[in-house]
Amino acid sequence: MDRDFFLTINRIGFSKWQKGDILLAELLWGDPDVTRFICASGRFDADDISARLEKEIYNETKYHVQYWPVFELSSGDLIGCCGLRPYRGGKYEIGFHLRPQFWGKSYATEAATAVIDYAFSVLKAEALFAGHNPNNVASSKVLLKLGFRYIGDEFYEPTGLYHPSYELRQNYPL
Ligand SMILES: CC(C)(COP(=O)(O)OP(=O)(O)OC[C@H]1O[C@@H](n2cnc3c(N)ncnc32)[C@H](O)[C@@H]1OP(=O)(O)O)[C@@H](O)C(=O)NCCC(=O)NCCS
Repeated sequence: MDRDFFLTINRIGFSKWQKGDILLAELLWGDPDVTRFICASGRFDADDISARLEKEIYNETKYHVQYWPVFELSSGDLIGCCGLRPYRGGKYEIGFHLRPQFWGKSYATEAATAVIDYAFSVLKAEALFAGHNPNNVASSKVLLKLGFRYIGDEFYEPTGLYHPSYELRQNYPL
């Protein structure tokens, strides 16, 4: 696959979602193992997938961030997405959605490390927010490993559940 990467870290290249990426978007968000913890039904239908793609493209245009598509440098394969979206109070929320064949290889941790660095050094963010479905143990482990601190539970409308929430400030010791 021939993609331009605006950011790379060890094994991963970060690209940007574009209008023609619907097949890649389906590969990721069309997989119920990926969306299980993301929305109440646990599935994205075709409309949900194209709406999500549109939203990512909109966020890049308006806020210069996305849950950017990430690729394995060695194979060129889509690993999933990892990046930022605007959160209230001028903060960004970090998130990661990986295709199942890439789970358990520390790709989420590696990708998020690059995103955190980008957020603090390029975007000059003061703090990052994160949340996860209470049943998503792997997500919690990744966030704690990255140095995020638990700040309480917050209602998350897409799942209808209270999600453990976290914050990372630039001056937190890792
Ligand atoms: C959550 C997710 C990003 C984790 O990514 P990953 O690259 O597999 O994470 P890592 O390989 O760094 O593993 C993180 C830790 O979770 C553990 N883990 C992985 N899957 C687990 C599971 N189902 N139950 C318990 N622990 C699990 C790993 O063993 C590892 O533990 P360690 O740090 O003690 O070694 C990935 O599973 C994913 O994309 N899932 C689908 C989308 C999603 O739910 N995204 C999060 C939305 S908030």
